[in-house]
Amino acid sequence: MPSVSFPKIEAAYRDRFPESAKLYETARRLFPNGVTHDGRFLLPFPVYVNRAEGSRKWTAEGRELVDYWVGHGSLLLGHSHPAVVEAVQRQAALCTHPGACHELEIRWAEAVQRLFPSAERMRFTNSGTEATLMAVRVARIASGRKKVLKFAGHFHGWHDSLIPAADGPYQSDSNAAPDAGRDYPTPGVTEGTLSDLVVIPPNDLAAVARAIDKHQPACLILEATGGHWGTVPMRGEFLRGLRQLTRDKNVILIFDEVITGFRVHPGGSQGHYEITPDLTSLAKILAGGLPGGCLAGRADLMQAIEFDNPFGRKMKHPGTYNANPLSAAAGVAALAVVATGEPCRQANAVAAQLRHELNQLFARKSANWVAYGEFSGIKFLPEYDGPRPDGDDFIPYGGSLEKLDRKFDPSLSHAFRCAMLLGGVDVFGLGAMTSSAHSARDVDQTVAAMDRAIDLLRADKLLR
Ligand SMILES: Cc1ncc(COP(=O)(O)O)c(C=O)c1O
Repeated sequence: MPSVSFPKIEAAYRDRFPESAKLYETARRLFPNGVTHDGRFLLPFPVYVNRAEGSRKWTAEGRELVDYWVGHGSLLLGHSHPAVVEAVQRQAALCTHPGACHELEIRWAEAVQRLFPSAERMRFTNSGTEATLMAVRVARIASGRKKVLKFAGHFHGWHDSLIPAADGPYQSDSNAAPDAGRDYPTPGVTEGTLSDLVVIPPNDLAAVARAIDKHQPACLILEATGGHWGTVPMRGEFLRGLRQLTRDKNVILIFDEVITGFRVHPGGSQGHYEITPDLTSLAKILAGGLPGGCLAGRADLMQAIEFDNPFGRKMKHPGTYNANPLSAAAGVAALAVVATGEPCRQANAVAAQLRHELNQLFARKSANWVAYGEFSGIKFLPEYDGPRPDGDDFIPYGGSLEKLDRKFDPSLSHAFRCAMLLGGVDVFGLGAMTSSAHSARDVDQTVAAMDRAIDLLRADKLLR
């Protein structure tokens, strides 16, 4: 447990959420750290949520919160969208697992293909982690090579091949010969697996070219809007350079659109930037808030999963819940709404408004924080000492990996989340994500909660 100290905020928080405290006491005896996802860990205890609708959710105490977790990004339409609820209820009464092919999986795949023209063939999985795991394996079979290139600070799920270097500290010398993931020892991951991974600094095309020449990798995988959902932003010019370079050097380009897919644009970051990757991993919004993922891409590469294929090696792909009908029903219903383009526009617009108003607040209160981000993502950067933003395309510290993706004192991050919860707002760590259900009223409440949170953090001596 990190040692944390924020006595005033903690006392108010314990007083406000007594039922959650009781539930957590039991949870601690069941789950490591009392939680079922590392990101939900919070000191002195997390809040427990019973019910949610639109942009709001209600805790075990009945306290109403503005929600910026939006189902870890899966709920672009907000909680319990009527079309999704109706589709899932109808399907639950028909069958939850036919143990057979079913028509909805076809409708689901067609909906994906309409929005992602690069999805010539696809296979459904149960999560984003499984989709990127499949991407790497397909790329290895199709290319006959084994090494994988990834950017430092990019998260692609928690399987052995790609979890190394998802978090700092990072190797800072971008001119050093790009080398194996061995520089990123990861508990539980073998040396052999690490040595098949090559980690390169983000936004440095020359480093990518050097790494390709040296390691002859099967593929390059990336979060196209930047590591940790844009914490260290990537922009179109760099992405176009990557597309050209990987095509010239015959390296399979994989866009991990688990979070950006259907969110930044109905056709994901590839739709927004008009770039066609070779393979794409999708999840989250894909399944309308239920579990589900998929790997999609070029038909010739996806042949790696077919029984008789030109590579002479088949990738085995079973999975009890692949394309399960509840997720398919939710996905088909959600993607029909996404296809109108309205949800992305609304979520992006409300996030831009929130970033703008928070920066005005930080300036008004002389708080050394800044808000930045693009699309429907909002990042909070504490201890900021650079120039104030002059527009919404502002990137602090010129996009420095070390400065933007750094660890803060755990007291600050835990205290900040608790302080925001006291103001009726649940933020996603030092960040937030909007849905199309978020409104100007949510923005007002969030700015007011941040105003009070700054005072509370100052009272506990965690902010100047
Ligand atoms: C870019 C990216 N890839 C992969 C994953 C893993 O997806 P899942 O949590 O569904 O396994 C995530 C999850 O947040 C993600 O953001």
